[in-house]
Amino acid sequence: MNHSFTRWALPGIAALALLAPSRPAAAQARQEYLLTTDWKFTKGEQPNAAQPGFNDAKWQTVSVPHDWAIYGPFDGNNDLQKVKIEQNNEKTATLKAGRTGGLPFIGTGWYRRKLAVPGFKAGKRAVLLFDGAMSNAHVFVNGKEVGSWPYGYNSFSFDITPFLKAGADNTLAVRLQNQSEASRWYPGAGLYRNVHLIVTDDVHIPVWGTYLTTSDITAQSAKVKLRTQVAVPTGTRPALRLVTEIRDAAGKVVATTTSNLAATGKPEFEQNLDLPQPKIWSPETPVLYTAASKLYAGQVLKDEYRTRFGVRSFKFEKDKGFSLNGQSRKFKGVCNHHDLGPLGAAVNTAALRHQLTLLKDMGCDAIRTSHNMPAPELVALADEMGFMLMVEAFDEWKAPKVKNGYSQYFDQWAEKDLVNMVRRDRNHPSVIMWSIGNEVPDQSNPNGPILAKRLQDIVRREDPTRPIAAGMDRFDDDFKYGLAPAVEIPGFNYKPHRYAEALSKLPQGFLLGSETASTVSSRGVYKFPVVTAKEKKYDDNQCSSYDLEACSWSQTPDEEFVQQDDLPNVIGEFVWTGFDYLGEPTPYDEKWPSHSSMFGMLDLAGMPKDRYYLYRARWNTAQPTVHLLPHWTWPGREGQTTPVFCYTSYPSAELFVNGVSQGRQTKAKSDKPQTRYRLMWNDVKYAPGSIKVVAYDAQGKAAAEETVRTAGQPHHIKLVADRTTLAADGQDLAYVTARVEDKDGNLCPDAADQLQVAVTGAGRFRAMGNGDPTSLELFHQPQMHAFHGQLVAIVQASNKAGDVQLKVTGAGLQAGTLQLKTAVK
Ligand code: GAL
Repeated sequence: MNHSFTRWALPGIAALALLAPSRPAAAQARQEYLLTTDWKFTKGEQPNAAQPGFNDAKWQTVSVPHDWAIYGPFDGNNDLQKVKIEQNNEKTATLKAGRTGGLPFIGTGWYRRKLAVPGFKAGKRAVLLFDGAMSNAHVFVNGKEVGSWPYGYNSFSFDITPFLKAGADNTLAVRLQNQSEASRWYPGAGLYRNVHLIVTDDVHIPVWGTYLTTSDITAQSAKVKLRTQVAVPTGTRPALRLVTEIRDAAGKVVATTTSNLAATGKPEFEQNLDLPQPKIWSPETPVLYTAASKLYAGQVLKDEYRTRFGVRSFKFEKDKGFSLNGQSRKFKGVCNHHDLGPLGAAVNTAALRHQLTLLKDMGCDAIRTSHNMPAPELVALADEMGFMLMVEAFDEWKAPKVKNGYSQYFDQWAEKDLVNMVRRDRNHPSVIMWSIGNEVPDQSNPNGPILAKRLQDIVRREDPTRPIAAGMDRFDDDFKYGLAPAVEIPGFNYKPHRYAEALSKLPQGFLLGSETASTVSSRGVYKFPVVTAKEKKYDDNQCSSYDLEACSWSQTPDEEFVQQDDLPNVIGEFVWTGFDYLGEPTPYDEKWPSHSSMFGMLDLAGMPKDRYYLYRARWNTAQPTVHLLPHWTWPGREGQTTPVFCYTSYPSAELFVNGVSQGRQTKAKSDKPQTRYRLMWNDVKYAPGSIKVVAYDAQGKAAAEETVRTAGQPHHIKLVADRTTLAADGQDLAYVTARVEDKDGNLCPDAADQLQVAVTGAGRFRAMGNGDPTSLELFHQPQMHAFHGQLVAIVQASNKAGDVQLKVTGAGLQAGTLQLKTAVK
């Protein structure tokens, strides 16, 4: 095997057997490779860079997925723009720096690579599949353009067979170009998702060539319908046979069928199987099956294809709302952008898994891939870990939000983009609904519902089994022009105060909080006096973690909770956002160096803010939550009012300051939504020492307690890893939190020491982050200041099994050390 290929290790691919050259030819029907290594990259326009003879020796050698902009430097001039953000109710244009992250993603970039195609000869076909390329991709093989795809978030493939030379090294070149003012957040730049080379026989199952649905689900059986397309050479009509086995999660065959395709028929098999005693997929039981299909012409195996799926049913019903597998439930969802904080947009499965693990612990069961198609790895993980997905297509249709946004492509590309989105992901049990758009300005003209119908018709043609949603923010226009009644799932953004009115008008009989809250906070930052505020700005460009600050259009979490709890046909919410992301530093859009968002329940480095626990207390019904805020180290605040909040799943709690009771609080309805969801002691006077809560359950029994102590001087660095054994696959990651602690192990909540990270052994330092939305320190440099006492270092496994040593040092602090392991799976 050519060393420059990496085997595709994603589930569903029979890669192992297919790569062994000693196997009979029949077993080599399909070969799939990830093109990860040996890419050459440069920024800037390069005449003739598509030509095979072009000399790229001076270009940088990179591996893909690759985000060319994440290495910085941050600079407000990188994405400076004078704009009026209409979504933010702005009336005049102002200068904005950092709106899209302040990173150098704008401009042209080129990637080149040798493309050996093992086994390619007459009778074979080769396809390049891009999971996403940011953006305006033009793909060249041996100097000839094989195709282009403008939208940076979509997956697309090109058949490169006619462009290849057999038995020779071929050259692949990709030109990408990002325009200014094309996005409202950091898009990333480059080949930030995987590139696959797929080699098949010319009789084969094409990319995304199967469509599997389940129905008639009972405890005894489920019907599985599998439609499989086949591609054959033009002018030929071979008689084909498709043998499909359904395997359960343990690999046991539980159903089989064989079908013949008449030489005269259309090139698609339809197979119907009965699956006995199906195990049902849900967020709580993410059980998966695989349909493994073999395509034969006579006795010759032509192709093998795997379709992973789950068995589940759901309904969205008038005046009843949403139910999954017969049980009604409300979405406990988050919206997320695609960037992975310190890793930028470069996709990494371990980083996604880390995010989903944190969301799972919070009790989150759903994700809206705002406002674009996700990486396929996210969808696969959502299947495996149990998340319901709303997969979204667009942030704009015909009417623009930003000068060079998707509207320029809409007419020509919307259908192609929707088709690829749906075909790629329609077999995944996690995908519960499609969204055709977010806050599109076309809401405000009569064309809106017409465009919505066009888009819905396309999605429905490709997948009639899932409903179609849109996120709407222009409430009155949505009824005036008719978008709200036109979409199958009416989603409202930031409109809890109008849900009752909407329900009285909507023919659908239910609605979704498609985007909610947008509360802003900085981890570890507390501002006094503690007041509810909109658009509050401070000199340090931070927001308070008392979780009472929002934007002019948005709310505190509790305002949404009230409507979710009191209105039965509100089917849940997708909170903006799970994680902070690069770009959109509201309310500091005009105040460089702010360049990342503050909406997250978790910060940009993936550390939970207090708000995480407010949602956990509500959403995680399996484990109790007791969380106290603020920290209790306030030199100079002695005797001053310092409110204490407790976010807990228990109904009441008693607070003690240095052992003295501050009384018992019980969640209760009042004119303030917060009193129903938080326990708040608003008059506490600060005195150093400790605060402690004792939480009481519904029966009035003391059930749990939590203490926060005043910290002394910074003394040592404590390292806490999310995982200690990594796969030795060159990709796996450990997220290690470095905490500056006093000698007794209390977090020093204001520590801002510069910390250095050194990794030796079977791993390397990958990146780090501290969650400070104003920090200009670069993620890939091994030193950074702690932000409110903490930062996160990301360690990447090597390809070898062994020990990894991590050492974090800081002046005047005892170093932290930690040993991790990498192991071959
Ligand atoms: C919404 C928008 C999101 C984000 C959010 C911030 O209006 O859909 O993309 O901008 O506001 O609150």
